[in-house]
Amino acid sequence: MKIITTLAHLRSYLTTFDRPALVPTMGNLHDGHLSLVRRAKPLGDVLVTSIFVNRLQFLPHEDFDTYPRTFDADCAALQAAGCDVVFAPTEAELYPQPQSFKINPPAELTDLLEGHFRPGFFTGVCTVVMKLFACVQPRVAVFGQKDYQQLMVIRQMVQQFALPIDIIGGPTRRAADGLALSSRNNYLSAAERVEAVQLSQALQTMAGALKAGAVDVAALEQQAMAALSARGWQPDYLTLRRRADLQSPATVELATLLAQADLVLLGAAKLGQTRLIDNLEV
Ligand code: PAF
Repeated sequence: MKIITTLAHLRSYLTTFDRPALVPTMGNLHDGHLSLVRRAKPLGDVLVTSIFVNRLQFLPHEDFDTYPRTFDADCAALQAAGCDVVFAPTEAELYPQPQSFKINPPAELTDLLEGHFRPGFFTGVCTVVMKLFACVQPRVAVFGQKDYQQLMVIRQMVQQFALPIDIIGGPTRRAADGLALSSRNNYLSAAERVEAVQLSQALQTMAGALKAGAVDVAALEQQAMAALSARGWQPDYLTLRRRADLQSPATVELATLLAQADLVLLGAAKLGQTRLIDNLEV
């Protein structure tokens, strides 16, 4: 496995390949990331994993400075998973000038859910992903479905810019108790780690109620938020959305969308200092 830190080296190394596959990451890899690497491996003739903690997608009060950097362990895990190239540029390499040209995704995709609670987040994500696409020129890129809205925004960006890149979503990997794997799970105390599964359980409870015929979605969402709050969480949202556009379904279309499995439950909530997200297609 090659470890490459400069764009010039990356470009010269990739010239002999026709179909690079890319898995973009911010490092601190867990089995969820490695499953994306394994998913991407057969899709290209060379597999590049990028490791870059992207300052542009963090709000000033967020954890950019403390985001765990575990480069050596990440490289060992990537080698074992079959990665061919780790692209790990410094900030000065990826952003040699202040990155004043940015991708501003449309408000209808980003003024809701994560974009509502983390303003500017998707501008930062789209800008770095576009830049990584320009560096690697992949024919296929794999992103985790745990970041459900991010995957949708990137798919739309690729479609609207007519980029010749297949975007593949990799399923969320979970711990034995059902907690979605996330780099931020490392921030949880032992007691919080036991409690953390309640986010996915809240989504399961909502799914059960919907399948049992509940139609008052607003009440369902409020009950789920109240139940988590009562356990000491600070929920941002627990909500039912259409898979196609992440908008709220109208009551009249609920039964049809449910029958077609075209709905998704999404949740984001803070437990102590740690903000967790999860989703469940229904
Ligand atoms: O999902 C992530 O880890 C990041 O948002 C990404 C896609 C690597 C961009 O920095």
